[in-house]
Amino acid sequence: MVRLLAVSGSLRTASSNSALLRAAERLNPEGVSIRHYLEVGQLPHFDPDLADNPPPIVVALRELIGQADGILISCPEYARGIPGAFKNALDWLVASHEFPGKPVALFNASPRASHAQAALRLVLETMSASIVEPASITVNLLAKEMDETAIAADPQIRQQIVSALEAFKDRIEEGARIAEE
Ligand SMILES: Cc1cc2nc3c(=O)[nH]c(=O)nc-3n(C[C@H](O)[C@H](O)[C@H](O)COP(=O)(O)O)c2cc1C
Repeated sequence: MVRLLAVSGSLRTASSNSALLRAAERLNPEGVSIRHYLEVGQLPHFDPDLADNPPPIVVALRELIGQADGILISCPEYARGIPGAFKNALDWLVASHEFPGKPVALFNASPRASHAQAALRLVLETMSASIVEPASITVNLLAKEMDETAIAADPQIRQQIVSALEAFKDRIEEGARIAEE
């Protein structure tokens, strides 16, 4: 079983990025499980003085990252950048030993969010994540107010999500095979 941790960069209840991740859970191929991390908004502000001995909520996040075979991120753009709450979560993972090398699929709910996507790639590459390009997709949910049911039912978006998840699964399984050799 390939275990994915889905993390939305938006705290908004009706977030299109969060809905996209929930749609992914509905469509996930056999052999893939998706767990949603919902505590980005509860994390304390990152403090380097605490990085080596972090609060329990951060320890729990790092453990979830460690248990996951891959991370599925969907993050909006705020003021041409990464939303502060999500960047804060990433900052807590910079010094962790769980994050480097972790396969990451970048989902993007808005074709307009190019600056945030570029910034996110730079940050994730700096954190030594392994961004899986065939598993990274942009869909247009901007101002459409589609929930996960509508997203999963849209033929074109559905196909994009399924293809991305299959590519992510294949890459993770390939990485595991290479590691065993
Ligand atoms: C404070 C704020 C700043 C934003 N800045 C941008 C921006 O720079 N570029 C952009 O394309 N959209 C921007 N948006 C629009 C959001 O990216 C858009 O509403 C998106 O759907 C939010 O993601 P969500 O639906 O997952 O919450 C901004 C929205 C907010 C609330």
